[in-house]
Order: sequence, then structure tokens, then C-alpha cells
Amino acid sequence: MRILLTGRSGQVGGALLPRLGENHDVLAPSRDQFDLGRPECLAAELDRLRPDLIVNPAAFTAVERAEDEPDLAFTVNAGAPQAMARWAARHDVPLIHFSTDYVFDGSGEAPWREDDACNPLSAYGRSKWEGEKAVQTSGASHLIIRTSWVYSAGRSNFLQTINRLAYEREELQVVADQFGAPTSAASIGQAVATIIAEHPSQRELAKLFARARGVVHLTNSGSTSWHGFASAIVEALRTRGMPIKAKSTRPMAACEYRARVARPANSRLDLTRLREAFGVVMPSWQEALESELDLLCGAK
Ligand SMILES: NC(=O)c1ccc[n+]([C@@H]2O[C@H](COP(=O)([O-])OP(=O)(O)OC[C@H]3O[C@@H](n4cnc5c(N)ncnc54)[C@H](OP(=O)(O)O)[C@@H]3O)[C@@H](O)[C@H]2O)c1
Repeated sequence: MRILLTGRSGQVGGALLPRLGENHDVLAPSRDQFDLGRPECLAAELDRLRPDLIVNPAAFTAVERAEDEPDLAFTVNAGAPQAMARWAARHDVPLIHFSTDYVFDGSGEAPWREDDACNPLSAYGRSKWEGEKAVQTSGASHLIIRTSWVYSAGRSNFLQTINRLAYEREELQVVADQFGAPTSAASIGQAVATIIAEHPSQRELAKLFARARGVVHLTNSGSTSWHGFASAIVEALRTRGMPIKAKSTRPMAACEYRARVARPANSRLDLTRLREAFGVVMPSWQEALESELDLLCGAK
């Protein structure tokens, strides 16, 4: 299959590129070549590239900046997916699009199911929700993959921040009243490659996506708080004999942190549909973290 992959320099795009490349011909244009900030140009580019499948992890992911630049966030996260999905519908090309736990308001404690009501708290969340709706109403065969708390050894993210602070400070203060599943980009890459591996034709992919009714939650299994995640990172660094300064991680409330943007308190995503529709059972967040730390510490 000829796959168009966006966001190759990102965490998820970077993990998908080698995975998808094992069995497919992957076109992975740079941002300059395929700019989601200019949705009006995408149909012509797609006419030229002629993919059999579009995979779109690229997004405006800067949550705080999206409050200041909502127009650009909506263009990249909703206008561009809409343009791609409309082209996909016209050419019978299936589309895999990535979305987020931020479409939910984080109320309650139960893991969110795919059909639960969305009620985003932030401009970023609203832009991603608009993107989902545009894909869903486009007429294209689609699979929207919602994930959460993504990290990788390579890009700037929570793992990298805690890793840096662990060398700089004796005590780290971390939010302990927001819960979700830390998810390694590598686990996402592996799962997506598994999902599409057995389904090389567009007709088969359409049937496959219909099994999940077009939306699926995909994270590492289990859940923790940001404080739990940070503590696990620090503990694993210590176990590996890394010369860190950090002696303790102190839990704090989200309101003490005074973030500019409200984040969901409950970001847990239910993985039942992922298992039932695709037979995919995700590794635990702790296992995924160990693998990523092997890379991170090996790279030091
Ligand atoms: N990160 C998380 O914690 C998280 C959580 C839940 C869901 N998600 C979703 O998962 C997906 C992947 O996230 P990620 O963590 O891999 O994001 P990321 O590391 O921030 O990567 C975003 C990618 O999008 C590209 N991009 C941004 N603006 C673009 C534009 N105008 N035109 C073309 N490309 C553009 C970036 O290119 P540059 O390198 O040039 O900027 C980068 O390759 C996104 O849909 C995101 O909403 C992420």
C-alpha cells in the first residue's frame, strides 16, 4: 500500500514511519511540502501523491499556545483534517486520524468510552473535537484514534522534563489529582502497524474501521497520576544507576500549579473496543516506560 503519513518529525509520526515502512511504501512529506496550516492546498498535493491510505498524526499540539492562536489551531486540527477527509471520500481512500483525551471534560472516575459525550475544556480540545466531527461527516472511511499523555525518548515531553529536572533538583513537585495513561509513541506505532497489517486493500480497511464504528481509544493499559508517572521515572533512573539529584517527588494539587489551561482531571480511556474490534491488547504503561527509558539512558 502507498501510505501518506503526516507529522514525520513528531512523536507519533516518528514512531509510525519505520513501523509502516516495514510493509508499505510510505510517503512522509515535510511540513513545508504538506502544510496543514494551508488546507486549501492539500487536495492538489493529494492528487499528486495519490495515496491508498492517509495516516494523520500531525497536529497543532501546543495546548497553551492554542489559547493564544486558536485560528491556527483550528486550521491545523480541524480545517486540514476536513480537507484530507473530503479528498479521501471523493477517492475512496481510507483515513486514520489521531485525536485526544482532551475532547472530554475529565469528569468522574470511570474510563471514557468512545461514544461518551465530548465536552472539551480548552481551545486545543475544541479544535481536535472539530477535527473529529469533520472526519466523521466527510463520508470517508475513517478510524479516529484517541490517545493520551504521549511521550517518547526523542521529543520534548513529560518524560524529558522529569528526566532533566531529576538531574537539577532534589525535590520535584508534580500534580497528583489528574489521572490518565502515559502512552509511549512506540506502543502506538506498534499497535497501528498491527491493526492494518492484515488488511492490505482499501475495501478491507473500510470493513476493519467499521468494526470500531470509526473511533477507538488506544493508550498503554493501566493508569496513574502525573505524580505517579514522575515517581516511576525517577525510581527507574535511580535503579539504572543514573547520577540524579532527585531524592523525592512531592504530590501537589492541579490548582496549586496554576496552569493557564484547564486539563481533564480524568483522562482514562477505556480500551475494550480496541481489544474487541482489533484484538489488540496494549502493554502496561510501566512496561512501555521501561522500554523507553532503556533508549533514553542508553543514549546518554
Ligand atoms: N502529545 C500528547 O500528549 C498527545 C496526547 C493525546 C493525543 N495526541 C494526539 O496525537 C497526535 C500525535 O501527537 P504527537 O505527540 O506526535 O505530536 P507532536 O510530537 O507535537 O508532533 C506534531 C507533528 O505535527 C507537525 N505539524 C504541526 N503543524 C503542522 C503543519 N502546519 N503542517 C504540517 N505538519 C505540522 C509537526 O511538525 P514540526 O515538527 O515541523 O512542528 C510534528 O511533526 C496528535 O494528533 C495529537 O493531537 C497527542
